[in-house]
Amino acid sequence: MEHSRGKFSSKLGFVLAAAGSAVGLGNIWRFPYLAAKYGGGIFLLVYLILVLTLGFTLMVAETAIGRRTGLSAIGAFEKLNHKFRFLGYLTCLVPILIFPYYCVIGGWVIKYLTVYLSGQGIAAAQDTYFSNYIAQTGEPLLWLAIYAGLTAIIVYFGVQKGVEKASRFMMPALIILSIGVAIYSVTRPGALAGVAYFLIPDFSRFSANTVLGAMGQMFYSLSLAMGIMVTYGSYMKQEDDLEKSVAQIEVFDTAIAFLAGMMIIPAVFSYSGGDESALNKGAGLMFVTLPKVFADAGTLGQIFGGVFFLLVLFAALTSSVSLMETVVSIFQDKFHWTRKMTCTVVLILCLIMAAPSSLGYGALDFIHPLGLAILDFFDFITNSVMMPIVAFFTCLLIGWVVGPKYVTEEVKRSSAFKREKIFVVVIKYIAPICIALILVSSILDTLGIATI
Ligand code: PFF
Repeated sequence: MEHSRGKFSSKLGFVLAAAGSAVGLGNIWRFPYLAAKYGGGIFLLVYLILVLTLGFTLMVAETAIGRRTGLSAIGAFEKLNHKFRFLGYLTCLVPILIFPYYCVIGGWVIKYLTVYLSGQGIAAAQDTYFSNYIAQTGEPLLWLAIYAGLTAIIVYFGVQKGVEKASRFMMPALIILSIGVAIYSVTRPGALAGVAYFLIPDFSRFSANTVLGAMGQMFYSLSLAMGIMVTYGSYMKQEDDLEKSVAQIEVFDTAIAFLAGMMIIPAVFSYSGGDESALNKGAGLMFVTLPKVFADAGTLGQIFGGVFFLLVLFAALTSSVSLMETVVSIFQDKFHWTRKMTCTVVLILCLIMAAPSSLGYGALDFIHPLGLAILDFFDFITNSVMMPIVAFFTCLLIGWVVGPKYVTEEVKRSSAFKREKIFVVVIKYIAPICIALILVSSILDTLGIATI
């Protein structure tokens, strides 16, 4: 089995595939609304610290586990230690739960693309446009199905490589356009207050929930704690520089999230006349704010709007393809169905699981698990509960059961391990202690028992 795995043809192959998976709706849709919600600058600061410490450590660990075992999550964790078999299964559950609601948001993106293509961008800039749209039944379901279908077609025909190659042009285009939009946003009247809110930490807003929110976002954005990097690591060649590749992906991913924040948060301040409560648009923040920016910029803005949503759609697709590919390979390993059969089953399951998330803002809006909309509930359970648990056990397994050497030796096969000390300290001590504290404190918080 180990010998039959395909390998990426170059280091760039790994970086492109992993960056394609990492950069997606998490950066452009999720990061800005969480930063807005959790206090702006303080969230950004905590996020950056987490990326450089925990994110780096986990990404190196997962990639090295994959490369050294030559297996995906289930097989790899079992091979490392029989008792950690459960971790493989838990890890696999994460993409199975994320993929459906990711497609709901992907559907929103296609809808907005069609809005711009049909010249209705100005209408979309109205405050209630988004909330009215997601409260409908048929149309959001239709776009969700189209988005999931598109993902399934790419996965079924195995054209991921082609998609990744195309992302060599699409990603730089996304960056350039985002810089342009961000500059336009921050120069709107009153936007500077938003820049300050996003960049200057206000320590009085710090809480365990800020850290948990930032941690979940970091896992999500970097595609960690869900088995993807283990699989990608298993395709990586031994001579490729693992540490450097990880660093490149982190920088790229974080840069796009930062730019998205700069596009959206200052614009919220500008269009609300400095009213901070406008930041609490939750999951809809991007869809409510950006059309206002594009409307402000006249005809050219409408063209930019169309191009922007096209590039976002592309970034989202490369991520959902990696999500679906992971789910398909879990099912294929388990049931040994043909690829066609597996893709069909996964697509149907995805649609069944996604429908409640889509309807949760309209027909099913009386259902509020944990006080959240259905989509937010799935988002919370995966990002703020399951991923930290997976990360915690991964750290225990590597830090204490098999020992950090398992990873450091693997990294050193291809290059010197410059940040080895940080890696060892974080994986053995800092990460498990912090994750456990934050998780417990925020669960108590959710249950209404006051903590830090
Ligand atoms: N990292 C992706 C994003 O930020 O949009 C989301 C994602 C992709 C999560 C693939 C998980 C995954 F397996």
